[in-house]
Amino acid sequence: MHVRRVTVRDLAAAKRDGRPLTMVTAYDWPTGRLADESGVDCVLVGDSVAMVVAGRTSTIPATLEQMIYHGEIVARAATRALVVVDLPFPLQHLGVRTAIESCARMLKETGCQAVKLEGTAGQAEVIAAIVAAGIPVMGHVGLRPQAVHQLGGYRMQRDVEQLLGDARAAADAGACAVVLECIPAEAAREITAVVGIPTIGIGAGPHCDGQVLVMHDLVGLSDRVPKFVRGYADVKTASAEALARWRADVERRVFPGPAETLG
Ligand code: KIV
Repeated sequence: MHVRRVTVRDLAAAKRDGRPLTMVTAYDWPTGRLADESGVDCVLVGDSVAMVVAGRTSTIPATLEQMIYHGEIVARAATRALVVVDLPFPLQHLGVRTAIESCARMLKETGCQAVKLEGTAGQAEVIAAIVAAGIPVMGHVGLRPQAVHQLGGYRMQRDVEQLLGDARAAADAGACAVVLECIPAEAAREITAVVGIPTIGIGAGPHCDGQVLVMHDLVGLSDRVPKFVRGYADVKTASAEALARWRADVERRVFPGPAETLG
């Protein structure tokens, strides 16, 4: 059966209709399938892959080639949700041509349907140029993990004027939605009320048009989880117990048994 894929027009309609949007990260085939089958609107191939999958301490080491590699897998795995792939640092800062070339490669080589890029109002021209090239762009303001060293850590961003200006600039430049990361709930409420595009919050309180989380945080696979996450499962403990039982069974020579022995 053919399933219609979520499009950027559906995101706009959700804001109009007051329907909460959902987005979750995925990085590979199993997480891409899980995310898509959960019924979320968007699957994000986040540059958080550098931390969550590769164990790095920031998203800065993620490369264009890595985002293309993971994006291509997730775009095949997720056949219904809108698949968004992150533009890795520092490609949105290297001029319009580099940004368009990089986003075009991500769309052509992965099959993803949109890109997300972190930026302040200073990136508005770049967003407008990518959108003019026919590539849907999701903005990302507030705590911008690619700027962690400049921001002095993974901390709440409280400058409401700047947050509002950055979100407005993304909307005016033609972004299809904007992620608000780690900002006060009241600031997110104000931004959501004044920008015409959907806001998708992470650590930004309940007043956004939608919510996004890192899948590994949500299901309990991450080592350290931010305070704004609610754990909906404990996959790490369940997996550790399964591995311990399997090892014990092998050591006691009860695995494999007759049921797992071929011929
Ligand atoms: O890279 C990522 O996972 C993200 C989300 C935290 C929004 O940008």
